[in-house]
Amino acid sequence: MQPYLIVMTRLSVNINKIATLRNSRGGSVPSVVDAAINCQKFGAEGITIHPRPDERHIRRQDVYDIKPHIYTELNIEGYPSDDFLKLVIDVKADQATLVPDKPGQLTSDHGWNTIENEDFLVDVINELKKHGIRSSIFVDPDVKMVEGAKRVGANRIELYTEPYAANYMKDPEKAIAPFIEAAKLAKNLGLGINAGHDLSLKNLKYFVDMIPYIDEVSIGHALISDALYMGLHNTIKEYLECIKP
Ligand code: PXP
Repeated sequence: MQPYLIVMTRLSVNINKIATLRNSRGGSVPSVVDAAINCQKFGAEGITIHPRPDERHIRRQDVYDIKPHIYTELNIEGYPSDDFLKLVIDVKADQATLVPDKPGQLTSDHGWNTIENEDFLVDVINELKKHGIRSSIFVDPDVKMVEGAKRVGANRIELYTEPYAANYMKDPEKAIAPFIEAAKLAKNLGLGINAGHDLSLKNLKYFVDMIPYIDEVSIGHALISDALYMGLHNTIKEYLECIKP
């Protein structure tokens, strides 16, 4: 068995929900810039945003407004349309997480077919590489898709963790098994590993304990919901507790 180096998993807070709340009233309250500043002040090691084409939460302008305040890492998620790539390159994000979402999709609900989309993904990733931007490909825990992610030249994969979260309470060992397999393969192929979707204070610790070489988790919905009751500072502290070895 190959020994694994213990990686410090980073917490990237997805602040889309702050933008959703702001947009519900128009105006600028709550401020997404303040959210990015405060999440970092409270210990977040990255900020994630997902500007969708309909701008229903993070808007194009938010990306420009937030970027100068990021001293950790800015991760921008989205479908790699020409517009998306232009934006990511323009602000020089640290990482682009590529998702296969249709324009009006409620939330990301599946990973890429990295085999069928190989040529497209190669072009996108080469473009990101030219600009020194790390690429991460959103995938289901499927070894074929992980192999495909390696072939297209991605730096990292992001494991789509919704199925893990959905099944964790019923049978944690069964829920995590495909993720361990996919993560082991990714590690052996030299890919970095991120994870996200529906991770929460209930299921995060087990996930990171079982896969102690996750580079980054990006968490939005549960974390911002917890912050309503516990406050943002305490909430971030609790999430950090879950991921530290
Ligand atoms: N990763 C990706 C690719 C996503 O689209 C999202 C949701 O925006 C997340 C992670 C975070 O998911 P959640 O909001 O459930 O924590």
